[in-house]
Amino acid sequence: MNAREDRLRRAAMAAGQEHLFRHWTSLSEASRARLLDEIESVDFALVGHHRSLARGEVAAAKQPAFAPADVFPLERDADQEARAVAARKRGVEALAEGHVGYLLVAGGQASRLGYDGPKGAYRIGPVSDWSLFEIHARRLRAAAARYGRPAPWYVMTSRGNDAQTREFFAEHGYFGLDARDVMFFSQSMVPALDFEGRILMAGEDRLFLAPNGHGGSLEAFARSGALEDARRRGLRHLSYFQVDNPLAPPADPLFLGLHALEGASMSSKVVEKRNAGEKVGVIGRVDGQLSCIEYTDLPSELREARDEQGKLRFGAGNIALHVLDIEFVAELNRGGLQLPWHLARKSMEVWEAGALVKKQGVKFETFVFDALGRSERSVTLEVARHREFSPVKNSTGEDSPATTRADLCRLHSEWIRSAGLPLPVPDEGGLHPVEVDPLLAEDLETFVARGPNRPEVRGHGHLYR
Ligand code: UD1
Repeated sequence: MNAREDRLRRAAMAAGQEHLFRHWTSLSEASRARLLDEIESVDFALVGHHRSLARGEVAAAKQPAFAPADVFPLERDADQEARAVAARKRGVEALAEGHVGYLLVAGGQASRLGYDGPKGAYRIGPVSDWSLFEIHARRLRAAAARYGRPAPWYVMTSRGNDAQTREFFAEHGYFGLDARDVMFFSQSMVPALDFEGRILMAGEDRLFLAPNGHGGSLEAFARSGALEDARRRGLRHLSYFQVDNPLAPPADPLFLGLHALEGASMSSKVVEKRNAGEKVGVIGRVDGQLSCIEYTDLPSELREARDEQGKLRFGAGNIALHVLDIEFVAELNRGGLQLPWHLARKSMEVWEAGALVKKQGVKFETFVFDALGRSERSVTLEVARHREFSPVKNSTGEDSPATTRADLCRLHSEWIRSAGLPLPVPDEGGLHPVEVDPLLAEDLETFVARGPNRPEVRGHGHLYR
């Protein structure tokens, strides 16, 4: 036994993970080397903590006190409108001065969508057939043109899709962006455990590792050198968005400006929940701390509770659009990023006794919105769902490619109709197959002002570009 093997065996043993070496004698030299590499990458102190969580050894916290967040509303009184006007001006300045960079989280595994590849490569444009990445990229190009400044785009991947994501961007010429302004970085992976707290295997020489949740973006941003890059470029704010939502406006002067005027460190956008039963997290306070309250954590009487105007008290649905200050991200990483771990009990395909079998286990994730509680000031901005939120999550039904394409068609039909332009024949569902390139316009006002004329006809659809 060499010194390295000995050291790793001891570490695994001390953490109750000696089973990792169970098949050692039957492994080839190459597999042994690979297994040692995997074991060496494990943070056993962290696994020890996860082990006690998986075994239910940590006392359940008492029921916390929940309170709604203060929301900057969509329907505004005169004072709020005046603040919005000042904020937009401030946001435009931040964009024009090059203080804003973009952070996209695309490290998820797209398992619910059932798509084999990075989710961002999924083609979603109803007429254009553009991928999610391409639509986001076009919005960034539109912002660069509008504010006279290209800005860096930090794209978080994970081990399972990093290489494919980089290739996809390269194959598509970075969608017209300057490759020097696109930086990829990979989030950390953590081992999944069984209910006894043992690390699960994915193969005879491989551990079952899963991405550490989108909260991992905050740690990986600092570790990868992206934080240093952002400082070097003089950035102050990061506009954070998820790969699954093609309606996400990355460069929103109102949001950026409200955040800056408030002197906030981290801010969020929300939409009004459709109804009490809609399964989205809500931005609210947990024992006084701002956070996102998961649907399942909110007691049903609070889920249903309404205010004097009849609106849901806990109706601020989280759409995972945030602004984060660069120095706040640096601060969060001082002494190591500390975010709470959330357990997800899932069925997984694991390697056991020489074969792949389905088994229940536990994955561990951190969530970016748990950093909200560390932000002394924060803005929660309500926006219109039909303009900003339509995520692709499932292969069919709610939040699926079909609903997202329909939402894009509906939004763009409204602009085309308002501009007095003809719409193509609707499909059997009453939807007009139309799409507007973000490079042409990202809102109704710009679309009308640009006075677009003939669309490009593609099949039955119209593409304005
Ligand atoms: C999430 C939010 C929910 C919100 C919804 C809006 C959580 C727990 N909940 O739901 O409150 O209403 O978005 O769409 O987040 N990702 C990574 N690395 C990871 C895990 C995820 O990069 O390790 C990325 C994914 O690529 C995706 C995004 O984070 O872009 C969201 O992840 P997902 O697991 O789909 O979130 P939801 O549970 O749908």
